Amino acid sequence: MTDPTITELADAAVATRPLDFLADFASMSRNGATERGGVDRQAATIADGQNRNWFRGLVEGHGFTVHYDQVGNQYCLLELSPGAPWIAVGSHLDSQPLGGRFDGAYGVLAGAHAALQVQQRLHNDAQEAKFNIVVINWFNEEGCRFKPSMMGSSVYTGKLSAAQALNTTDPAGVSVHEALQAIGTIGDFELQVEAYVEIHIEQGRSLEDRGLTIGLVESTWGANKYEFTVHGEQSHTGATVIADRHDALLGASALVVAAREVALEYSTEEHMVITSCGEFTVLPNSPVVVASQVNLLVDVRSTDPEVLAAADAALHDRVRQIEKMASVTIERGASHIWGSKQYDESGINLARNAAQAVGLEHGVVRTLAGHDSTNMKDIVPTIMLFVPSVEGISHNEGELTQDKDMLAGVRMLSEVLHRVVTGEFV
Ligand code: GLV
Ligand code: MN
Ligand code: MN
Repeated sequence: MTDPTITELADAAVATRPLDFLADFASMSRNGATERGGVDRQAATIADGQNRNWFRGLVEGHGFTVHYDQVGNQYCLLELSPGAPWIAVGSHLDSQPLGGRFDGAYGVLAGAHAALQVQQRLHNDAQEAKFNIVVINWFNEEGCRFKPSMMGSSVYTGKLSAAQALNTTDPAGVSVHEALQAIGTIGDFELQVEAYVEIHIEQGRSLEDRGLTIGLVESTWGANKYEFTVHGEQSHTGATVIADRHDALLGASALVVAAREVALEYSTEEHMVITSCGEFTVLPNSPVVVASQVNLLVDVRSTDPEVLAAADAALHDRVRQIEKMASVTIERGASHIWGSKQYDESGINLARNAAQAVGLEHGVVRTLAGHDSTNMKDIVPTIMLFVPSVEGISHNEGELTQDKDMLAGVRMLSEVLHRVVTGEFV
């Protein structure tokens, strides 16, 4: 009797290990759990490191091998056909501070489960795979501790240099490089992939409102995100007469209001404009001191490039007006911009056929939020799928996707991946 081959051992492992998505999701959600049912796993923090290691252990137990690249992207390789090219499925395991447990994490875990289901199905049907599957946990999609967002996939797709990413510091001055080394999830792995698939929670209401289980994402909204610094002059809040003030906080507050006004003014029936200020840091932030400086991040988004450009120009006009009104100067620092773009038409068709085959209610949607697929679709054929978010709540500990929708998404993803690895897409 001869020893079993590695493939036979892997097959046996798949056949004997029960897969329980909901149990794994519940275990994962304990990493960095917050009191109100969310998670706090900002990029390369201890909680993110724990979760990355937890995920590594999980997938290694199912026959994957795990590697890290130079900016901490985590690659979990499931070899189906030795020597064949690779297709990727992924999302991100990092979160916002006090974020939801589904955003990103659902897609990474769903990717691993779907990949294993595909392996099992190929085995049962004695079918050859044309591609191997890598599940990728992209580093720092959220961009809260380190800006910009979608950092790992931006480096992978050549939109950001690895050096720039690694030298980026958090508010405490810790660099991405130092933080990744501290949690031990950095390496030198490189892998070319031929196609990309991502599943994510919708983070909006459209699927729920339409009674659909699966969204076939056809395009992204365009987004312009800017870091502004308002420079004023520090002085005494009581003793400085109004005429002498250069109040950075007044200028920054006016900019927050201007951003909202621009959204209201430039939205049309057909094309909405969405603006926001999500981060606002006041210096020195002391009770009896007129602020010397405020750093804030403003984003402007729209489905239509012309509407976006007009809203953006109006915001910049308002910046000039605010400088005069508050007697401050406003400097624009780094920006992070992506256009409103279509996803691959043939990928949408493949996903539609897959949804029909597995009997899931589906429809076309657009994504307001950025995702790693926003980057990946610019370099390889990409399919992006959504599952519903209850009441559209996201970036909130109350974020929720129902169990039945998570499971339907895994079923859908496994059907899509099966079609991709058997050569229906690329
Ligand atoms: C993600 O990075 C977003 O801004 O939507
Ligand atoms: Mn996300
Ligand atoms: Mn997010």
